[in-house]
Amino acid sequence: MDQFPGLAQYESWFQKPRFHVFNRAHTLLIIYGNTSSYFRQYDGTLAAANIMLSAYAMGIGTCWIGFSHYTLDTPEFKRKHNVPENYDLVCPMSIGYMKSTPNPPTRKEPLIFYRD
Ligand SMILES: Cc1cc2nc3c(=O)[nH]c(=O)nc-3n(C[C@H](O)[C@H](O)[C@H](O)COP(=O)(O)O)c2cc1C
Repeated sequence: MDQFPGLAQYESWFQKPRFHVFNRAHTLLIIYGNTSSYFRQYDGTLAAANIMLSAYAMGIGTCWIGFSHYTLDTPEFKRKHNVPENYDLVCPMSIGYMKSTPNPPTRKEPLIFYRD
């Protein structure tokens, strides 16, 4: 928590005995982007969103696992898993068959900053 103060808001999640960083999914898909591409974060995120929608259409659940960002982007992890140094992390995504289909969250009101 001292090292990642931004995660403090999730402290109660981490304290649950059943908490599992990858939601007990059996598969983790990790998208990296080539640092020579200025838009790699956007490109990779669009790819991630398309994968999420396609997976859902096949009854497969996905979740972006931001909690694992730091670990998966370290030189040690990348070396061990053959990720070239000039690629950086975009999206770790847990993937698995869902035990149940979650209810959609309540829709939030859009914030409209300008209307002509
Ligand atoms: C960049 C990003 C990182 C996320 N990281 C995690 C995570 O580490 N663990 C998790 O369970 N969900 C993670 N999520 C999923 C969010 O928990 C989920 O999208 C959120 O509950 C939706 O909240 P909202 O309905 O308030 O918008 C992440 C989502 C995004 C976009």
